[in-house]
Formats: sequence, C-alpha cells, structure tokens
Amino acid sequence: MSALVEVSELRTWFDARQGGKRCVVKAVDGVSFAIHRGETLGLVGESGCGKSTAGRTLMRFHNPNGGRILFDGNDITSGDIKPYRSRMQMVFQDPYSSLDPRLAIRDIVAEPLNIQQPKLPAAERDAVVVENMRLVGMNSEALSRFPHEFSGGQRQRISIARALTTNADFLILDEPVSALDVSIQAQIINMLMDIQERSGITYLFIAHDLSVVRHISQRVLVMYLGRGMESAGTDELYAHPLHPYTQALLSAVPTPDPKISRKKQRIVLEGDVPSPINPPSGCVFRTRCRYAESRCADSVPEMRDAGGGHFVACHRYE
Ligand SMILES: Nc1ncnc2c1ncn2[C@@H]1O[C@H](COP(=O)(O)OP(=O)(O)O)[C@@H](O)[C@H]1O
Ligand code: SF4
Ligand SMILES: [Mg+2]
Repeated sequence: MSALVEVSELRTWFDARQGGKRCVVKAVDGVSFAIHRGETLGLVGESGCGKSTAGRTLMRFHNPNGGRILFDGNDITSGDIKPYRSRMQMVFQDPYSSLDPRLAIRDIVAEPLNIQQPKLPAAERDAVVVENMRLVGMNSEALSRFPHEFSGGQRQRISIARALTTNADFLILDEPVSALDVSIQAQIINMLMDIQERSGITYLFIAHDLSVVRHISQRVLVMYLGRGMESAGTDELYAHPLHPYTQALLSAVPTPDPKISRKKQRIVLEGDVPSPINPPSGCVFRTRCRYAESRCADSVPEMRDAGGGHFVACHRYE
C-alpha cells in the first residue's frame, strides 16, 4: 500500500509582532507523517499545537518554510497547486461560519465544482449536488433553503457534501465534530466512515482530544507545540501510550468500564501550551512533563521506532 500523502519535516512559521518587536511564530516546526490510501490518520493535540496550520499547509493555504509534501507521489511543497485543488478539500470546525449565510444550499454545495468546472451544464452540476447531498444523508428539498434553517449537525453534513463534489480523494477534517453535541458527533463520524468504505477516500481527521479519533482512525499522530510526539496504530497507541504527553491526554479520556476507570490514574496536565514564539529548548514538552530531566532541556528527542510501527520522540525511550 503506497502513501497518498507524505509529509516530511514540515515547517510553517508566521511573522508576527510581540510588544512592538518582530518575532516568528513556529506554528508547525518539523512534523512528519504519511497517510495511506483509504486510511484515516487522526491528528491530535491541545488547542494551539499547530494542527490547523499543518492541515492548511497541506492545502497550501500557507506556504511552508521547510520540509516536503508529497501528494500521490507529486511534490506539492511549492509551485502551482491548482492541478491538485479538486483532489484535496478541507472541512472546518465551525459549521456556522464556514457556510455563506446569503447563499442557498444548492450554491454552497456547488461552489468547489463551479470553480473547478465552470463550464459544466447546470443539469449535470445539479445532479452532482443532489448525489452528494444524498451521500451525507440530506434530502434534496434542502437545496433551496439557507444555512440558518439547519442545525449544527446538518450544516456540517452540508459542508461535507460541498467538500465531496469535486470527487476529492483526500479530505482534511479540521475538528469537524468539536462544535456538535456528543450524540450528533457519533452520527457524523459514522457517516464519514460509511463514505470512506464506499469510496476509498483518505482522511486526515484533526481533533483536540483522543476520544474523538479512536473510532475513525487507523493510525494516530499526537502533536505538541508544532512537533510530532508519538504515532502508532490506533489500538496500539491507546493500549500502550509511551510518550508522557499522550499518557496525560489519554488519562483525561473517560472509559466506559468503571473497573478500568477506577484503576486508571488521572494525570493532570498543568498550565497551557507554551507560546510557539519562544518554545522551550530541547524537548518542547519538558515544561509540563513529570519525567523531565536535564538532558530534556539540552537536546531535542528524535522520533524513534519503538517497534511495530510505533514511533515516539522522548529521551526515555532512546
Ligand atoms: N496566521 C497566523 N499568524 C500568526 N500566528 C498564527 C497564525 N495562525 C496560527 N497561528 C498561531 O500558531 C499556533 C498554532 O495554531 P493552530 O494551527 O491554529 O493550532 P491548533 O489548530 O492546534 O489549535 C498558535 O499559537 C496560533 O496562535
Ligand atoms: S524528552 Fe524528557 S521532557 Fe520530553 S517527554 Fe520525554 S521525559 Fe518528558
Ligand atoms: Mg485548530
């Protein structure tokens, strides 16, 4: 199985100002991962860790400062992204602000198609729109209505229909269910899994907690302050988390089995993610790590193979 998306040492830095002085925000600072065809990679980390910036850089909404992005074997790190635009689409967290309130659903869903194939006859365009609305479980009677007439879950279905109209083979789902009620979250996740089963589409699923990605992802990458901390197959990561950051994130996930939750020790992550303007030296997690020692301030831990496709960046496993 070859990778559809291969990212190595990706860096996306922003110029900013702090106290009148120019500075650099290292939002993404050396992240690597691969996503195989038809697979879902879960990308997890607290707010501010650079997940959206990584996704937006893959879409080339930002130009990377370093590293390499391969899409279907093609280097898309720089140069013209237009030939790949229809093949990759992004769905955003907030279904309230990502749909233009002045447009009817028909025009919202058709938007990427209008850009990609402006000469497509109206009847054909409508047929594509109706088919994709059906895929996300929406009736075509919705087409003449406006976004405010729908619930959050329905709006997110509409956003997903829009992302699918160009027949994309890769979707970046940036916290697509974070703004929705828990019961609705499961419906959307199951729908995304059905669509993937039928079409073989590839997903990068971004979330800020580990419970959301468990069901949908085959692999998970945990990110912290612009860098990859740990990645593994989903079952392996949840059963044997190695990185102290993953262990802390996981200890916050509720377990359905009361026997397990009583045994499970809650690891409290104190403080916030430090600023990516002045990230800690060495291991960026060290200011919140309960195992931190002097070498953690001196050298950056490399992502190392812990066996069985499990990778971890922590000096404790060297
Ligand atoms: N356009 C931008 N200019 C400056 N800083 C940015 C920009 N976009 C994001 N950032 C900063 O980059 C860091 C990562 O942000 P983001 O990628 O949105 O994280 P996440 O999606 O994990 O919450 C944050 O500190 C954020 O403030
Ligand atoms: S390298 Fe050190 S500070 Fe970083 S996670 Fe491992 S033990 Fe903690
Ligand atoms: Mg985000």
